[in-house]
Amino acid sequence: MQVDLIIHSAQQLVTCASPAGPKRGAAMADVGPIANGAVAVRDGRIVAVGPSAALCQHYVAGTLVDAAGMVVCPGFVDCHTHVVYAGDRVTEFEQRIQGASYLEIMDAGGGIVSTMAATRASAPEQLIAESRARLDRMLRLGTTTVEAKTGYGLSLESELKQLAAIAPLDQNHPIELVPTFLGAHAVPPEFSGQPDAYVDLVVREMLPAAAAWYRSSHFAQRGVPFFVDVFCERGAFDVSQSRRVLEAGRALGLPLKAHVDEFSALGGLALALELGATSVDHLDVTTAEGIAQLAASNAIAVVIPAVNFNLGSGHFADARAMVDAGAALALTTDINPGSAPCPSLPLVMAIACRYQRLLPAEALNAVTINAAHALGLGQRLGSLEVGKQADMLLVQAPDYRHLAYQFGDNLVAQVIKNGQMVEQIADW
Ligand code: NIG
Ligand code: FE
Repeated sequence: MQVDLIIHSAQQLVTCASPAGPKRGAAMADVGPIANGAVAVRDGRIVAVGPSAALCQHYVAGTLVDAAGMVVCPGFVDCHTHVVYAGDRVTEFEQRIQGASYLEIMDAGGGIVSTMAATRASAPEQLIAESRARLDRMLRLGTTTVEAKTGYGLSLESELKQLAAIAPLDQNHPIELVPTFLGAHAVPPEFSGQPDAYVDLVVREMLPAAAAWYRSSHFAQRGVPFFVDVFCERGAFDVSQSRRVLEAGRALGLPLKAHVDEFSALGGLALALELGATSVDHLDVTTAEGIAQLAASNAIAVVIPAVNFNLGSGHFADARAMVDAGAALALTTDINPGSAPCPSLPLVMAIACRYQRLLPAEALNAVTINAAHALGLGQRLGSLEVGKQADMLLVQAPDYRHLAYQFGDNLVAQVIKNGQMVEQIADW
């Protein structure tokens, strides 16, 4: 059979295959390795995966790629990001080194609100250019799909400007984007001391406008979901305010996510689970009871060790206990200018293995198949299985464990999105 592309002779091909849904518990330690593996692609879809000898007998390819000595694995899915923003917060980085905490900086009017000011002030082209440069770096590090939140506009006009930036970035960049509305990320200065009044605006005006934007966007036409998210935290939104936002999103028929248990366990986790959120994110201070609820739910547990690392904290989400309890875990960069200026999922895996005692296999499943499920796209993305979109990496390593074992360098040699080679990082 004639196909467009065959990658063959991989020292190790890891499928991360999980036909029944996200991987949970013990299944997370299996990445489905195939020695001397190959994959065949036609029209951007995977048509065969297996040992090279058998596959090369059955298929003839327009393009043949020899992956000898390398790992072939699914493209990484970064399922929680704030990649669309203007400016930076390098001054806050220094303030934290000198002893200020993330929440103290936020309470003093810095933090998210300072990036809001920079994002509001930026021209749309500038916002797109700065965000595109970040996506370029993420692609080189192996990321092929990125969730992108609003939340630095915090007004109707500026939230719509962020959404308007996400559409052309998706269309003009090899990375595929999944949009999320996070109008309830922080209380903007014009509503200082009146979070309920701001939630009124979010629920009555911003969310309906965002939903209308989505319905007329190419994302809706292509079946890419549009999530509604909220930052449930002291100094941001409490549980009843978060409930109003998430229930309004659900009433519009949109799937949900929530930032919960990052610094304080307010009850946002139980709320998000009750409302059927697709994912619950951060989970740094989640209690044992919360972990049990999570494991019993369908929600993906998204943990973000790059934030703990960046904030110089020795405390990390108890991802080990979550996996052991049977939860479906995903890892993400959370790339943003404050808590995680980090484009690298390999670095996130490296941190998670060291400080959260995940095995490299668990970390790899957490940035591929489970991260795809955190975006509601696990049927199309996140693993090398027949019928799925051909998003794949060639990695300069003899074994997938090197992705987490080595750190500080980029082992990704080639990135293939939708069957097309979109990035060649190294000659090999
Ligand atoms: O996921 N926690 C809230 N939001 C982001 C941080 C955004 C920022 O600091 O600008 C997060 O960590
Ligand atoms: Fe976040």
